[in-house]
Amino acid sequence: MALQNIAVLGSGIMGHGIAQISAMAGYKVILRDIEKQFLDRAMEKVKWSLQKLAEKNKITKDQIEEFYNNINPVTDLNDAVKEADLIIEAVPEDFNIKRNLYKELDQIVDNTRVIYASNTSTLPITELSKLTENPSKFIGVHFFNPPQIMKLVEIIPGTDTDNSITDKITDFVKRLGKTPILCKKDVAGFIVNRIFIPIVHEAVYCLERDNVSKTIIDSAVKYKLDFPMGIFELADYTGLDVIYKATYEMSIRDKKVIYPNPKIKELYDSGNLGQKTGKGFYEYKGEKYERINLSEEKALEYDPISILGIATNNASWLITNQVCNRGDLENALKLGMGLKTDLFKLTEKFGYQKVIDNLNKLEERFGEFYHPDEYLLSLR
Ligand code: CAA
Repeated sequence: MALQNIAVLGSGIMGHGIAQISAMAGYKVILRDIEKQFLDRAMEKVKWSLQKLAEKNKITKDQIEEFYNNINPVTDLNDAVKEADLIIEAVPEDFNIKRNLYKELDQIVDNTRVIYASNTSTLPITELSKLTENPSKFIGVHFFNPPQIMKLVEIIPGTDTDNSITDKITDFVKRLGKTPILCKKDVAGFIVNRIFIPIVHEAVYCLERDNVSKTIIDSAVKYKLDFPMGIFELADYTGLDVIYKATYEMSIRDKKVIYPNPKIKELYDSGNLGQKTGKGFYEYKGEKYERINLSEEKALEYDPISILGIATNNASWLITNQVCNRGDLENALKLGMGLKTDLFKLTEKFGYQKVIDNLNKLEERFGEFYHPDEYLLSLR
C-alpha cells in the first residue's frame, strides 16, 4: 500500500521542516508536539518558509495556503498517529525520551502495518529499533538543516529492517524531491556527521594551536575549501546543543571518531547555543539568521590543511569500511552540506602527500585519532 498519511512527532527545526516538505509533496501531515506554544511557533516558521519559497517562485501564492493547510498541528499523540502509515520521529536526541515515546506508540498503533522512521542524527538505528516491538519496520531517515533546502536524506536501515521498508522509504524520499543516499552500515555519525562533527572540533583546535581568529579560519574554509559557510558559522547555524549531543553520542559509540575539544561542552553548558540564543562562537542580533562577514582576502592568511585532513581522513574511513562508495560520499557532502567541490579532488589539489604528512605530525603530538586511513594512503 502506498503511503498517504504522515505523522511527524516533534516540531523543532527538523520536525516542522519535514512536515512542510511532506505537505508540499501532497501528503496529509499531522505535526505533533507536547505543547501548543511549540506548534504555534513551528507553524509560524512553516508560513515564513512557504512565503520565502513563493517569493522565489518555487511555489505559487495559492500554494502557500494549500500546503500550510495540509499540516494539522496536534498535541494528542493518539490523534497524531491513529491514521498514520508512516511516523517520522524528530523529538530531541535523548535516548530516554525516544524510548518512552516508542513504548507509548507501540501501545496505540498497529505496528505490523505502520513504519517508524527516526530522524536521529547520531543514535544507533539498530538499538533504537529494538526499543520497538517490530524492528523490521523501523528505519533511520536523516534529513539536513534546513530540510526545506538541503536535498540530502540519508537512509539508514538497522540490522533487522526489512528490505521492503528500505525501498518504501527510498521512494517516499524521492517523492519529497530529495536525494536518498543509503548508509550501508549503522556507524556513528552515519555519513555526513562522521565528517561534519569532527571538523568542528578540529577547527577549535586550529584556533588554539595556530593563534588565528575565527573569521580567518572561516574565510579559509569558505574560500579555500569551497564550503557555503565557515565552519564556526555552520556550527552556530546548526546549534551547539546539536553539535554537543552528536559529539557525545558518537564518541561513546566509537572513541576514535572524534577528538573532542572541551570548548564545545563549555558553550553547551553556558547556554550559548549559536544563532538561536544570540551567541555561540559568534554573536547575533536578530531572530533571522545572519551571515558572518567572511572574505577571500582574509582566507589568504590561513592554510586550513588540518580541517581538510580530518574531513578527508574520515571520508576515507567511510570508504574503507564500505559504509558508502566514493560517488555517494561526494554527493552526500554536496547535497547535505552544500560543498561546491569534491572533497577528494580538493585534497588532490592541496597534495595528498602534504595532507598525510600533516596528519602524521598531528598523530605524533596528539595520538591515534589523526592516524591516516588506508584509503587515503593508497591515493598518494
Ligand atoms: N525555507 C525557505 N527559504 C529559506 C530557508 C527555509 N527554511 N532557509 C533559508 N532560506 C532562504 C534564505 O532566507 C535566503 O533567502 P533571501 O535570499 O531572500 O534572504 C535563501 O534561502 C538563500 O539563503 P542565503 O542567500 O542566505 O544563503 P545561501 O545561499 O548560502 O543558502 C544555506 C543558505 C542553504 C543554509 C547554505 O548556506 C548552506 O547550504 N549552508 C550549509 C548548511 C549545512 O551544512 N547544513 C547541514 C548541517 S548538518 C545537519 O543538518 C545534520 C545534523 O544532523 C547536525
